[in-house]
Amino acid sequence: MSKKDELLKKIKDEVIGCKKCSLSKTRTLPVIGQGDHKAKIMFVGEAPGANEDKTGVPFCGQSGNILTELLNSIGLQRENVYICNILKCRPPENRNPQANEIEACISYLEKQIEVIKPKIIGALGNYAVSHILKKYNLDDQIQGISKMRGKIFKVKVSFGEIKIIPLYHPAVAAYNANMKDILKEDFKILKKYNGK
Ligand code: URA
Ligand code: SF4
Repeated sequence: MSKKDELLKKIKDEVIGCKKCSLSKTRTLPVIGQGDHKAKIMFVGEAPGANEDKTGVPFCGQSGNILTELLNSIGLQRENVYICNILKCRPPENRNPQANEIEACISYLEKQIEVIKPKIIGALGNYAVSHILKKYNLDDQIQGISKMRGKIFKVKVSFGEIKIIPLYHPAVAAYNANMKDILKEDFKILKKYNGK
C-alpha cells in the first residue's frame, strides 16, 4: 500500500466509525469516495442519494451515469479521477443537508484533499460550490451556479495551488439535453487544465 492508500484507508475507517452527526443513525452505508488516489481532478458532489446509500459508491445512480458520460466526453474514465461528496452520509428522504451536519463532516473532505492533492476540484452543483468556496474564504465570490459555472477560482493550499471549477450538478441534465450540452462545454475546461 502506498502512503496515500494508507492515509485514505485511515480516513475511511474514521468515517465508518463516525457518529459526529445524527445521519449516522439513518444512513445504510457511508459513501466515502472512489477513484484514483493520485488523481489530478477531484469531483465533489452534495451528499449520497438512495443508490449511493445502498452501495457505498458515490454517483452510482442516474446522476452518476451522466457524470460518467461527461467524463467520457473529455476522454476520461471514472477510474482516472476521484469522486466524493461534501457529506458522507445520506440525509433522510434526500432532504437538504443541515449546517451542523456539514460542519461536522467537512473535515473528512479537507483530509481527502490534503492526501489526494488534486490540481483541480470540479464542484458539482450550487451546494458543493458554495461550501468549497467558503472553505477557501471566497465567500464574497459566491453567486448562483448559472453565473459561476465554468469559471476558475485559483486558491493557494499547503501543497501548491488548486483550481476550483464550479459546474452544474449532473442531475440537472437528466431530463434536459440543453443542460447536458452546457455541462459538456464546461467539462472541456477540465480537460484543458488536466495535469497543469
Ligand atoms: N448526487 C450527489 O451529489 N452525490 C452523489 O453521490 C449522488 C448524487
Ligand atoms: Fe459523520 Fe459525516 Fe456521516 Fe455525519 S455525515 S455521521 S459527520 S461521516
